[in-house]
Amino acid sequence: MKPLSHYLRYLALIVSLLFLAACSEGEDHAAKTASITTLDVYKSRTCQCCQQWIQHMENTGFETKIHHPADLNRVKDDHGIAPEYQSCHTAVTSDGYVFEGHIPARFVQQFLENPPAGAIGLSVPGMPAGSPGMEMGDRFMPYQVWLLKKDGSAEVFASVDSRDQQ
Ligand code: CU
Ligand code: CU
Repeated sequence: MKPLSHYLRYLALIVSLLFLAACSEGEDHAAKTASITTLDVYKSRTCQCCQQWIQHMENTGFETKIHHPADLNRVKDDHGIAPEYQSCHTAVTSDGYVFEGHIPARFVQQFLENPPAGAIGLSVPGMPAGSPGMEMGDRFMPYQVWLLKKDGSAEVFASVDSRDQQ
């Protein structure tokens, strides 16, 4: 039989290896979360197109947390989204920027890289056919992405005239 100290040394080695593995995993995780944006998405429980849009955002590298509030309109009102700019779902970043409706991920990224002064976020009002999450075969309805401002006004952030501009 080998002496107990032999086993203890072996055990210590295993523990330190496990510790090293855990540490490097932790660093990896930290590096990743630094660049990932998590969106709190408020939608109705039964909305299918919302789910499709969430999938589109996750495919582009966003993380999402889904919420089903009893009063969805209140969420929009609380975030200053005027009725004419409302859509089916509202996504909110940890900084409080709002992204309303079926906005292509690339415009959300563009906004977040350099948020314009006085802006609260972006919106695609209604649910244009062919926008991300609103795929309907070959149908495509040109639409605008609006820049929403703190004072309640809005201006065109982008015009999307074809499917490949998304
Ligand atoms: Cu929708
Ligand atoms: Cu939706």
